[in-house]
Formats: sequence, structure tokens, C-alpha cells
Amino acid sequence: MRKGCTLWFTGLSGSGKSTLAQALEKKLRNREVNVEVLDGDVIRTNLSKGLGFSKEDRDINIRRIGFVCNLLTRNGVVAIAAAISPYKAIRGENRALVGKRFVEIYCECPLEELERRDPKGLYKKARAGEIKGFTGIDDPYEPPEHPEITINSMTETKEESLARILRTLELMGFIPPGPEATEIPPDEEETIKKKLGELGYL
Ligand code: ADX
Repeated sequence: MRKGCTLWFTGLSGSGKSTLAQALEKKLRNREVNVEVLDGDVIRTNLSKGLGFSKEDRDINIRRIGFVCNLLTRNGVVAIAAAISPYKAIRGENRALVGKRFVEIYCECPLEELERRDPKGLYKKARAGEIKGFTGIDDPYEPPEHPEITINSMTETKEESLARILRTLELMGFIPPGPEATEIPPDEEETIKKKLGELGYL
């Protein structure tokens, strides 16, 4: 059986986590990889139904998602988590639980850009005080210090981000190669290899 892994997307609301998770899921299914997406918004309608956005509730939510990711990972599935997961310590707990096959993907995007896009209108509501404790406005977000992958939805296209994630996972040996080679610019390939070397993967 192929070994699984956990791909943990973290970042502010609207930073591209769910979009990338879904696109990645599709790409991996095309490679006949068993894959499951655990999206914060969806998990909060079932597994974490009833939880709010206090630190305590967010921690419970993130621990639950990590727990399921670990079960899936050890059964050969690529588990993709997409949740804000604002607290470094709990992400760290999940990393410790899953072990070496945990890949943290930080979706970076300036707050001004997220507020400009605001497809759900939530930032506007948070600014108006209609939502209290909104991540990035009046609730903390602790960015990862050593994510395996960082993507930026302001400076790169979805396709560019996706290709970089896929190529990194291929080089890590966590996913099989696709029917066609994953094309990324040669300088980026070098940057990824250097980074993976520093992280001890290569
Ligand atoms: S987490 O903090 O527990 O990781 P999660 O990713 O599950 O959050 O849910 C975030 C989503 O809930 C956001 O994309 C947004 O649609 C919604 N949401 C509602 N209230 C808040 C809030 N106070 N802070 C952040 N997101 C909120």
C-alpha cells in the first residue's frame, strides 16, 4: 500500500486554502491517489457542529481535524486539511501526531487584499463590529515559521501554486508522478530542492 500523508493548509479566511485543496484533490484523483479533503467550513457543519470561534473551540476543531487526518494518513490516504488553524501550538500538536508525513502549506496573502476581495462579506462585517473575534481583524493568526510550502495568492496564479505544491510533493516522494511532467520554472525547482535539503527531505 502506498503511504499517505497530511497536507495541512493554514492561512486567513479567503487566502485560497479551500480552492487549492479542491484543485489538488482533483489532480491527485487523476493520479489514482486516495485523497480526502477536510475543509473547516464543511467540518463545522458535521464533525465540529456547534463549535464557535473562541480559542477553545478553534483548538477543539483543529485537534479533531488533525485526529482524522492521522487516521487517514496511516491508512494510505492523502488527507488534505483546509482550516484557518490560527494557533501555532495546535498545528504543532497535529504535526507531532502525524509525524514525518505532515506537510504544512501556508497560504499567505496581505490582509488589505483579502479585505478588498471579501467574497463572503465577512471582513466588512468584522470591521463593522457585526462579527466579533474575526481572524486577522480582532483575533490572532500566528503564521507558521517553517512551513514546507508557502504560497501567495496575490503574486501567483492558482495554476502556479498548484504546480509548485505538486512538484514539492513529488520530490518528497509523497505522491507518484503524473501522466505528464509537472512543469515549474527551473529556478523554482532549485529553490524547492534547496528548501527540502534544509528540511532534511533530500
Ligand atoms: S478555525 O479557526 O477553527 O481553523 P475554520 O477554518 O474551521 O476556522 O473556519 C473558518 C471559516 O468560518 C471562515 O472561512 C469563515 O467563513 C467562518 N467564520 C465565521 N466566523 C469566523 C471568525 N470569527 N473567525 C474566522 N472565521 C470565521
